[in-house]
Amino acid sequence: MASDSTAAKGERRARVTAPQLARLKRQGQPIVMVTAYDATFGRLIDEAGVDVILVGDSLGMVMQGHPHTLEVTLDQMIYHARCVRRAVSTALLVVDMPFMSYQVSPEQALISAGRLVQEGGAEAVKLEGGGREDAVRRIVSAGIPVMGHLGLTPQSVHEFGGFRVQARDEAAADRLRRDALALQEAGAFSLVIEGVPATLAREVSASLQIPTIGIGAGVGCDGQVLVMHDLLGLEDRFKPRFVKRFAELAEQVRGAVGAYAEEVRTRSFPGDAHSFAAVSAAAPEPPKAASGGGGYGPV
Ligand code: KIV
Repeated sequence: MASDSTAAKGERRARVTAPQLARLKRQGQPIVMVTAYDATFGRLIDEAGVDVILVGDSLGMVMQGHPHTLEVTLDQMIYHARCVRRAVSTALLVVDMPFMSYQVSPEQALISAGRLVQEGGAEAVKLEGGGREDAVRRIVSAGIPVMGHLGLTPQSVHEFGGFRVQARDEAAADRLRRDALALQEAGAFSLVIEGVPATLAREVSASLQIPTIGIGAGVGCDGQVLVMHDLLGLEDRFKPRFVKRFAELAEQVRGAVGAYAEEVRTRSFPGDAHSFAAVSAAAPEPPKAASGGGGYGPV
């Protein structure tokens, strides 16, 4: 929706809304979605001009260090959503419903979704799996937009026996086709398709009116999503086939922190330029220290 030049020029963009994503699909404009989990990256990613920021439950892996997303709680999702919310002014803010926050009943799903909106500042919620139409209808009936998520749904990792490409055989592909249509009919405004054959994702995308957002689902979806740690190369221990790194920040972080450690150990940092003088009665008031980051800014 926003061009690079718009973001680079610092021009103010209009807020992205859930209904606008369907318009982007109709206009044939690819939808850009990225995850974020804190205010700093939320701001930077928003300023880069993406359409959708997802506070994903992938935070269980990239922020908390778990091997999957199953231990993430609703309170933790709300905490991270609040952090990102404070920093995002333009992109649509979608927040994941974590494991066991919507599976029990449509009422439980509505209460959880309501908390993500009221306490977390979500503008839409995302939930995983087919057969959840009752929950979707209940949430949508309260005015909360719902994004579906089919294919390799990480909350079902134990059922799948690992993070494996899904819907490779015709029976599973057919189930996914039916689930996608059912989600659309239940009122979902968009659908993430993860880890399925590209031909299937293309076919499903063409069959739906709502936009699909792919991850590991080829080039035929209406948009793409990546986890920010993958996109930025902050996770450099492994690189799944569907990931493209647009930066190598892990290397840069190690280099920068290594350089800092070296300078501290050799006493080249801090220098006079990073030090403050005392106020003397004769001297004029010194300038205030600059704000920002961890600086001594105005509070
Ligand atoms: O949790 C997450 O980050 C996600 C995306 C990978 C789609 O669900």
